[in-house]
Amino acid sequence: MVMALGALSLSACNEHAKTAADNAPASDTVATAKDEHTQSNADEVTLKHLNLDIAVDFDRKQIAGCATWAINNHKKVSTLKLDTYDLTIDSVYVDGRNSSFLMKGTVLHLGEELDIPIEPATGTVSIYYKTGKNARALQWLDPAQTNGKKFPFLYTQSESIYARSWIPCADGPGIRYTYDARVKVPKGLLALMSADNPQQANDSGIYHFKMDIPIPAYLMALAVGDIKFRPIDARTGVYAESSMIDKARYEFEDVGKMVTTAEQLYGPYRWGRYDAIVLPPGFPIGGMENPKLTFCTPTIIAGDRSLMNLIAHELAHNWSGNLVTNATWNDFWLNEGFTVYFERRITEAMTDKSYADMLWELGYQDFEKAVEDLGKDSKDTWLKLDLKGRDPDDGLTDIPYEKGAAFLKLIENTVGRPRMDSFLKQYFDEHAFKTITTEQFLAYLNEHLIKGDSGIARKLDINAWVYGPGIPANCPRVQPERFKKVDEARTAFLNGTSPETLQTKEWSTNEWLHFLRKMPSPLSQAQMQALDKAFHFTNSGNSEIADLWYTMAIPADYKPAFPAMDKFLSRVGRRKFLEPLYEGMMKNSKQDMAKAIYAKYKQNYHPLAQEDVDAILAGKN
Ligand code: BES
Ligand code: ZN
Repeated sequence: MVMALGALSLSACNEHAKTAADNAPASDTVATAKDEHTQSNADEVTLKHLNLDIAVDFDRKQIAGCATWAINNHKKVSTLKLDTYDLTIDSVYVDGRNSSFLMKGTVLHLGEELDIPIEPATGTVSIYYKTGKNARALQWLDPAQTNGKKFPFLYTQSESIYARSWIPCADGPGIRYTYDARVKVPKGLLALMSADNPQQANDSGIYHFKMDIPIPAYLMALAVGDIKFRPIDARTGVYAESSMIDKARYEFEDVGKMVTTAEQLYGPYRWGRYDAIVLPPGFPIGGMENPKLTFCTPTIIAGDRSLMNLIAHELAHNWSGNLVTNATWNDFWLNEGFTVYFERRITEAMTDKSYADMLWELGYQDFEKAVEDLGKDSKDTWLKLDLKGRDPDDGLTDIPYEKGAAFLKLIENTVGRPRMDSFLKQYFDEHAFKTITTEQFLAYLNEHLIKGDSGIARKLDINAWVYGPGIPANCPRVQPERFKKVDEARTAFLNGTSPETLQTKEWSTNEWLHFLRKMPSPLSQAQMQALDKAFHFTNSGNSEIADLWYTMAIPADYKPAFPAMDKFLSRVGRRKFLEPLYEGMMKNSKQDMAKAIYAKYKQNYHPLAQEDVDAILAGKN
């Protein structure tokens, strides 16, 4: 069995085990709240450090190797329980000795619990394993699915609970550990992780990684491909496929300044380097805040740096999320709501209030739409979620993002910006590298900001936000000056003014989105044609605008946009863009078109995106 692992040998792995145990820093953080989405017993057995020794096999589309956990069995229990998902466990060694183990059977959404017998004094547990065909964290790209078309590519997406599909681990956001890794990849390719990273490929194809700051499993990440690096400044830089690196470098010009701006708001960036990697187009989400190395979609490369607020978002997670982490997925708004708030503060500091106001209004529109889609009385519109027995991805709506951010904006408006900022700075300092529940946050808010002031408490009406549905009556909403002009332009157009004469020269992406979002649906053929002729939406290089335009083209049956939409759907795997287009086709009697396009491009989408589109085409959404 062990021999089948190729690059690995048993002795090598156990050697690592010893180093791992000896060097493990004291990161004994235990979960503080019941996490319904892990079957591990990390509350009884502390997982201090992970040593990962893996090989990436593109032919088999498989990761195989050994995960060695340095543990502290402080409760002196007789079993270590870990999460796995579609993993094959070949063998297990406890303190270097071959051990029995038990796979407990698959539980819906959660995968399979792996039980390993341990002693009170057990120091290390090594697990030899392979990933399966249904590894939800992994997307294996053939050369044809990459931007450069010459080399294969692999990347992981571990949030929410998919780390367990490529590493046997205690997979809960409240459980942190340090790690180091040895990763073997085909020669010539570069491997990167959420850790200290190399900046160029080496001849051996073997890379070593070290992450000495404790992180939760959902921040474990790996990318492998024909990847190049370009520095931005002394501590920031960008990686991308060779064929994309120049465009990426141009787009990311302001990222160094962005990190400094964030630090001025809420305190030091505590992770050393801040780099980002622009992934191939199939990446199923916009961005992922993997520590030291943000993963992001190439759909933000617009050529004019106009979509960089996504990077502000992922950067902000290095405070809200990576530094102070939601204890369970029910507390997800503590990660995302704070991050959206912080993202807009960074953007405001780098542009101005008139710009940030537009982001707030677009966010409010998203919030309204989420409430409408979920139902205004739905418990899924509470900030505190109830995901027991469900896939945590069910909580992945605009509610934790926009309702969460709006709640923080309300607090800011109520106590004033200076008090809000010193509160948040202190919050990040005092909870650094810790886990927090909604209830703990509210207690902290009461103690440090509200301080018994019943006037403030009344104005905030916290319960309505956190444990109540819909849009609370005191929800803040700005009226962006710059959108007034957009509204006038739209009205003029709808009243017959020729679009060429509209004053759109100074418009940013935000103005264009607002202009299009508030158009009646469907527009007539003549209206679509006139807009397209004036503004070339069909061939827009801005993915946000193009996607929105295609969602309008479908109900309008505006055929000139369809070839471009087809091409867009062939390239782009970002779920946020796929879903409205496939849903639009299904709802507007274009089922055949949806099915034909999906049949062509299904293989280009990430497994999770495929699950989404499958559900949409089956009429389940
Ligand atoms: N952490 C999220 C992505 C995520 C959340 C993945 C939950 C899986 C489960 C990331 O920070 C995020 O919010 N990305 C957004 C970016 C946007 C809000 C700027 C996305 O991907 O669209
Ligand atoms: Zn986020």
